[in-house]
Amino acid sequence: MKRSKIKDLLHADVPQDSVLVKGWVRTRRDAKDFSFIEVNDGSCLTNIQIVAGGGLDNFAEVKKVSLGTAVIVSGRMIRSAGKGQQWEVAAEKITLLSPAPESYPLQKKRHSDEFLRTIAHLRPRTNKYGAVFRIRSELAYAVHDFFRKKGFTYVHTPIITASDCEGAGEMFQVTALDLRRPPQKEDGATDFSLDFFGAPANLTVSGQLSAEMFALSLGDVYTFGPTFRAENSNTRRHAAEFWMVEPEMAFCDLGGNMDLAEETVKYLIGHILTACREDMELFIRFVDPSLGVKLENILSADFVRLRYESAVEVLEHCGQKFQYPAAFGADLQSEHERYLTEQHFKKPVMVYDYPAAIKPFYMRCNDDHKTVAAMDVLVPGIGEIIGGSQREERLDVLVSRMAEAGLSRENYWWYIDSRRFGSVEHSGFGLGFERLMMLLTGMANIRDVIPFPRTPGSIDF
Ligand code: 4AD
Ligand code: MG
Repeated sequence: MKRSKIKDLLHADVPQDSVLVKGWVRTRRDAKDFSFIEVNDGSCLTNIQIVAGGGLDNFAEVKKVSLGTAVIVSGRMIRSAGKGQQWEVAAEKITLLSPAPESYPLQKKRHSDEFLRTIAHLRPRTNKYGAVFRIRSELAYAVHDFFRKKGFTYVHTPIITASDCEGAGEMFQVTALDLRRPPQKEDGATDFSLDFFGAPANLTVSGQLSAEMFALSLGDVYTFGPTFRAENSNTRRHAAEFWMVEPEMAFCDLGGNMDLAEETVKYLIGHILTACREDMELFIRFVDPSLGVKLENILSADFVRLRYESAVEVLEHCGQKFQYPAAFGADLQSEHERYLTEQHFKKPVMVYDYPAAIKPFYMRCNDDHKTVAAMDVLVPGIGEIIGGSQREERLDVLVSRMAEAGLSRENYWWYIDSRRFGSVEHSGFGLGFERLMMLLTGMANIRDVIPFPRTPGSIDF
């Protein structure tokens, strides 16, 4: 007989004569002649209640079953007289598959997120983390659904690359050289011509440059995959390995780009609120009581569109003391982003037209020669969730921007080439998948929405 998923059993309309459940014991309550055992199989948040009676051959052992033990239960699914659940399984046979000793760390009490991070291999067995990772899975599917419905082509951009899209030099190097004795050139520098690719290589910080090539061929495309940053920032919203959703559209300007960004965020939030209702309820009740209202606000708000210059003006005149005062020419700090979205506008804000000097080479220069057609989407509680821009499609401007940024033309010959043949206006953005997860669940630390997070000094699991 095939096992039933608890999720399906709990949705049943009628009792069932014979069901087979496999899962892990979450709680046990003993009465005189029987025990109630709650079993969870990960298919949904809710456990199924197993009623184990004295008639079972192994009742003496079942009565002592410890939390975390793996079990197989067969029996009848009947209406439950107890409150809190509609169905329960009257066990006819319970096999104790694999016990979990008393040292099992997930005993019945509340554990802090910090503690659970130290047992990241076990935390998906808790209610909260099971819910986080079911939502994460659904969110990934929703990303594909959304872009597929809009006629975007999904492109697999490379993970190993020789380019540095953001130009920030925050890359993990990839090498097959023997690091104890790397080959050297005459001047003592490492000779990468003898390395695997014949040149220095690194893990990608963004799939954008490759995605642009496909947008200029297939029109509307997106890439969605892992990206890597060796930035040594130990904050609650930075990870060394994170996933990014990156659409790229030909024949699209900055305004169209902002339209898509707003639509994407709203679609994904709306989808999760309905598709993951039960799991979302947990976050709304126990993680952030204002979460439901916050998400509804985002769905119903028109995102503010504000030039960078005006954003700086708001920040300069708001009377709020910041650790880093806002000033034209400096990047917005997370405290600024949060002030704009949480205090001033109380909704998401899209800041655009940033100073060229603080943005990467590929962003399109505006006519004022000072700013570029960049846009960031900022949301309450987190700050930047999306970064994007209209791309520089003019060959001469691009080449001079690259020279200013000190990028070698030889490395990016193919990127420059795209501006020589049928170059058109195009735009795109990167949505931080984990940042969206944080927004959706109210989880305050990026480490808690990634199965096995990678951050400075931490590579366990
Ligand atoms: O603003 P970023 O650096 O933009 C790019 O990489 C562009 N090439 C994207 C594009 O236009 N196709 O990163 C985009 C988003 C940020 O807004 C943030 O949400 C997320 O990626 N992000 C991070 N998330 C977690 N940890 C980090 N270290 C992140 N760095 C960026
Ligand atoms: Mg950014």
